[in-house]
Amino acid sequence: MYSEFAPFSLKNNTLFSEEFDDLYSSAKGAVAECNHVFIKGNNLNERFENLGENSKFYIGEIGFGIGINFLTTCKSWLDHTKQNQVLEFYSFDKYLFRLSDFIKLNVSCPDLKEYISELERNYPRNIQGAQKISLFGGRIILNLIIGEIDNTQEYIKLMDKVDAWYFDGFSPSKNPDLWSIKLFKCIHKSCHENTTFSTYTSSGLVKNNLTESGFNHSRAMGFSDKRHMLKGTVDTQLKKNTSNTKVAVIGSGIAGCVLSYTLAKKGIEVDLYEKSDSICSGASSHELLVTYPRLSAHDTAFGSFTLHSYIFATNFYKQLKTDTWKKTGVIILNHDAATEKRQSSLLEKRADGEIYRYIDPDEASEISGIDIKLNGLIYEDAGYILPEEMCKFLIESPKINIFTSSHIKSIKKNREVFNLNIGEKKFEYQNVCVCAGSETANIVDIDGISIKRGQVTHIESLDNVSRIKLPICAKGYISPRVNNIHLVGSSYSDIEDTDLSEEEHLYNLNNLKLVIDEEMNVITGQTGHRAVSKDHMPVVGMKDGIYINTCHGSRASVTAPISAEIIASMIVDEAPPLMGRELESLSPERFN
Ligand SMILES: Cc1cc2nc3c(=O)[nH]c(=O)nc-3n(C[C@H](O)[C@H](O)[C@H](O)COP(=O)(O)OP(=O)(O)OC[C@H]3O[C@@H](n4cnc5c(N)ncnc54)[C@H](O)[C@@H]3O)c2cc1C
Ligand SMILES: C[S@@+](CC[C@H](N)C(=O)[O-])C[C@H]1O[C@@H](n2cnc3c(N)ncnc32)[C@H](O)[C@@H]1O
Repeated sequence: MYSEFAPFSLKNNTLFSEEFDDLYSSAKGAVAECNHVFIKGNNLNERFENLGENSKFYIGEIGFGIGINFLTTCKSWLDHTKQNQVLEFYSFDKYLFRLSDFIKLNVSCPDLKEYISELERNYPRNIQGAQKISLFGGRIILNLIIGEIDNTQEYIKLMDKVDAWYFDGFSPSKNPDLWSIKLFKCIHKSCHENTTFSTYTSSGLVKNNLTESGFNHSRAMGFSDKRHMLKGTVDTQLKKNTSNTKVAVIGSGIAGCVLSYTLAKKGIEVDLYEKSDSICSGASSHELLVTYPRLSAHDTAFGSFTLHSYIFATNFYKQLKTDTWKKTGVIILNHDAATEKRQSSLLEKRADGEIYRYIDPDEASEISGIDIKLNGLIYEDAGYILPEEMCKFLIESPKINIFTSSHIKSIKKNREVFNLNIGEKKFEYQNVCVCAGSETANIVDIDGISIKRGQVTHIESLDNVSRIKLPICAKGYISPRVNNIHLVGSSYSDIEDTDLSEEEHLYNLNNLKLVIDEEMNVITGQTGHRAVSKDHMPVVGMKDGIYINTCHGSRASVTAPISAEIIASMIVDEAPPLMGRELESLSPERFN
């Protein structure tokens, strides 16, 4: 979960790597070098200008470094394309630069000032694996894959539309892993008949390995004092796949609404079906959903998914620029031996404060607004969503058609299409995604799902409680004030009915004593049914040709955004926001 920041030094004012004994770019100027080698080498400005309406362009890069190539490409993209076109930029690196170094070192690039500021505001985290970051209002998406290339090149196998590749490892003699036949063969599979590539080097080893791997290369004039560089095309007849047929999404809770939004953003029309007469009326319909992860210090698929889904979610909500997301931070108090053990191992694993940090009772009291007697962790990027308002906001797009009071009774496959039945009517789709929460198993054949009831207690906002500024979690949680109440949650049981229970109110209030031990005035509460899988991971992927997105358990506000991106990327045939191990751990087939 933790990745070391890039070690570096400066040689005559140019960024230098002691580890690889090489400069990061030409001493004659990194931006000018990028413009010559990569932008011109792939004829990008002209290709950008000739793109069709609403089209997408995909660039891959080996060696993200300090991001000069990326930022220079951002400038070129924004200067030469229209508002409705999107650049997906995939870049691989072993390291990320520390944010403070990124800012300090890039000060000398006045031409890139606004692009540097945008990346600085949305800077990636130093975690292993893939991160997807939306920039410039969604016109550019940075996909940064951090880790040793040997471990991350499996991700390239998930990419298959790349229009241009930048090969920018250190000198091939010093950094052979980034120029190997194994890597180039893998990259070849991500290309189509119009893909191009370029690189600053014209080394014999690189030429040989490119030829062996199916690339056609030619020499071109190199940058500054380099005589030659290489550029070329790819020996393949594969076509770039750009199909985008309408998708049916079933269920308008947080999972279905985030998915509809994500599909619409990718240019796909959506028919969103909801059985109730209004959207967001299932388990998502609470006054608020607290958004924080239950992280694990272990390098398992569960641990990695939890961390990635949390970072993805907080980035996702931030870029929405909506009041329905409240980035307040969330405090997790250290209230028993098991929590103490988990928090100590998390702090041992990463002490850099980038994702969470230790707070003592004094600081916890100051941050939260009430007197706290326990220490704990604060997740500063966490917060809560207002689900109903957020769902409405998410499905505002003209690309999303909403059909309430539309109970899908069954989904039947007929050759290559699916028929949805609503009463006597039938509707046909190639792609259907079921986001029906705890009712998913009523319409698709799926194992390993159970249903767990929960109840939150609504308490009056009086005295001390009214001062709470952010969600505080111990055995249960208490929220800050929303609509003049505070939510205290939440019970977890196998009971099927939806009536409020005194016993569950008492359970919630008893847990609350760990945070604040005062008499509370209960106003009412709300129950709901969570879908939970056997291994407590969401169920996201395809089964029998139908996409499924459910089992968000008690953490839908954290897991729904990345799950939506997984499904949407499967539908439009783009690389997913996670590595293979994590994707497999979510598969709807895993309990068969
Ligand atoms: C008491 C409680 C407290 C919780 N607290 C939090 C929290 O603080 N933070 C957090 O992140 N999560 C929390 N959760 C979990 C979260 O609420 C759920 O995981 C989440 O709401 C699931 O969202 P969903 O979109 O998958 O399902 P739902 O919100 O249940 O949406 C499914 C929708 O599908 C519709 N539907 C079902 N079948 C059909 C059909 N056949 N045809 C058409 N429509 C259909 C339903 O009407 C419903 O609107 C809590 C859950 C409970 C019960
Ligand atoms: C020449 S620099 C890239 C410069 C970058 N394109 C830029 O615009 O700043 C080469 C990069 O390759 C990365 N690298 C070297 N060996 C690697 C490996 N085995 N796996 C992944 N990345 C590696 C280094 O960390 C370094 O950032």
